[in-house]
Amino acid sequence: METAVNSRTANGVATGGAGNLVLILDYGSQYTHLITRRIRQLSVLSLCISGTSTLDVIAKLKPRVVILSGGPHSVHAAGAPSFPDGFIEYAEEHGVFVLGICYGMQLIVQKLGGVVAVGEKQEYGKMEIAVPEGEWGLYGPEAIGGHQTVWMSHGDEAVKLPEGFTVVARSLQGSVAAIENRSRRFYGLQYHPEVTHSTQGMETLQHYLLDVCGVTADWKMQDVVEEEIKVIKGLVGPDEHVICALSGGVDSTVAATLVHKAIGDRLHCVFVDNGLLRYKERERVMSTFQSDLHLPVTCIDASEQFLSKLKGVKDPEMKRKIIGREFICIFDDFAQELEEKLGKRPTFLVQGTLYPDVIESCPPPGSGMTHSHTIKSHHNVGGLPKEMKLKLIEPLKLLFKDEVRKMGNILNVPESFLKRHPFPGPGLAVRVLGDVTEGNALEILRQVDEIFIQSIKEAGLYDSIWQAFAVFLPVQSVGVQGDQRTHSHVVVLRAITSEDGMTADWYYFDHKFLVDVVRKICNNVRGVNRVCQDITSKPPATVEWE
Ligand code: XMP
Repeated sequence: METAVNSRTANGVATGGAGNLVLILDYGSQYTHLITRRIRQLSVLSLCISGTSTLDVIAKLKPRVVILSGGPHSVHAAGAPSFPDGFIEYAEEHGVFVLGICYGMQLIVQKLGGVVAVGEKQEYGKMEIAVPEGEWGLYGPEAIGGHQTVWMSHGDEAVKLPEGFTVVARSLQGSVAAIENRSRRFYGLQYHPEVTHSTQGMETLQHYLLDVCGVTADWKMQDVVEEEIKVIKGLVGPDEHVICALSGGVDSTVAATLVHKAIGDRLHCVFVDNGLLRYKERERVMSTFQSDLHLPVTCIDASEQFLSKLKGVKDPEMKRKIIGREFICIFDDFAQELEEKLGKRPTFLVQGTLYPDVIESCPPPGSGMTHSHTIKSHHNVGGLPKEMKLKLIEPLKLLFKDEVRKMGNILNVPESFLKRHPFPGPGLAVRVLGDVTEGNALEILRQVDEIFIQSIKEAGLYDSIWQAFAVFLPVQSVGVQGDQRTHSHVVVLRAITSEDGMTADWYYFDHKFLVDVVRKICNNVRGVNRVCQDITSKPPATVEWE
């Protein structure tokens, strides 16, 4: 994990302006990633590491500002997480600005000699605060002397401030909402400026970071692209070769396009048709790769190979494992063929890993969890074999999904491609429940899915939906079509809204839309006589059915 953020060019990743970094120490708040994103929206690079990282790790990053995040803990709880010993001295010695948010503010109060008590009035949700007249670091002229709505979420409360600190905002109930000690460069907000319910939160962060801390807003995606290309050129020797498995998704496509810009046709991509792709998927993505992006891609039709291995397999985990294994075999053969053709083995592998996949998180004490990578291993393409000994190039490792889309735009990846809904690595295998090879389940599912997605596009809803797809159920129901009794298949439509796929809500279609789609499906797809809609959120359900 540390390699992801420890140096400016760690593992082939460009991080931009040294000495201008806003480093977030994560104490487990559900909003920590949001702070990181908000700051990046101000064109300032922000990284997030565990709140209990060592001083050495923090110092190596040379942050200009350190933000201590919120968290679910009480500073009084045994084992409550904190910054490392020597952090306060380090910050003062190097002129680092420190801002505590919620739990982070209470840590500052407690560690600098103030008192945090269990609050008499627990404050949750929207709240008014007042910023009195005065000259404050945390608030600019437009906020001073006024009221603003903020999002509070805390039980504990600062009842005695450390020496030298001033209260610069209070809730209308009278509790401390913001504090600062400008000469020592320590600041604290009891509320969450990063959530949209805090109506002036972005202005507060902008004023504080740019005007008070002197951070420069110079983190631009165009610069990241250029810097990244330079890093990759420096990393890959002039006669070395790189391979990349393209999934047809945004991340691997943008990563490959970037690497291609850096090293040209020494990049060798492979796209595998595993027989589990959507309607005309292979033709559609290959045409984008070749005609729009001019990527050197070998398309391997391995559908027979995959489907024969999946015959009779019903268990969802077993299906995933078989698909992963087959993928590795194909990738291995591809590397072998390249070695024979080029006379040398490729040395690097490109992966489209994103920041949320590598970011460290700080779980609540007592949860039994240790700080760990929040890697959803099944989401990584294929889980490639260790014995291939390929060095990784992960050029998107510090980016969020929306930033990858911006990068894709700069690299001329077509807009329609960048906006495609996510599609799982195991493809339709997790959408045909049970044995995927039974009857013509895959073909039926492809047709239903295509009608559903095209209808969504025609209704102009595609971009408001995070993901939509159809599911094939291995059951039959009785129906009546054209005066005939039928005994045909049941399919399910699922559409969700989500931020990142970790939680999701079902999407509400209007009545007419649903009536039209169901009619189209039953009239056009042989073998289907019943259509259901999945209206379960995640949790308790997952997005996919298997
Ligand atoms: P779940 O079903 O876990 O899905 O709620 C969350 C998001 O992840 C996608 N997903 C996968 N992506 N390989 C992938 O590359 C997988 O095995 C996989 N399983 C789920 C899913 O489509 C949704 O966007």
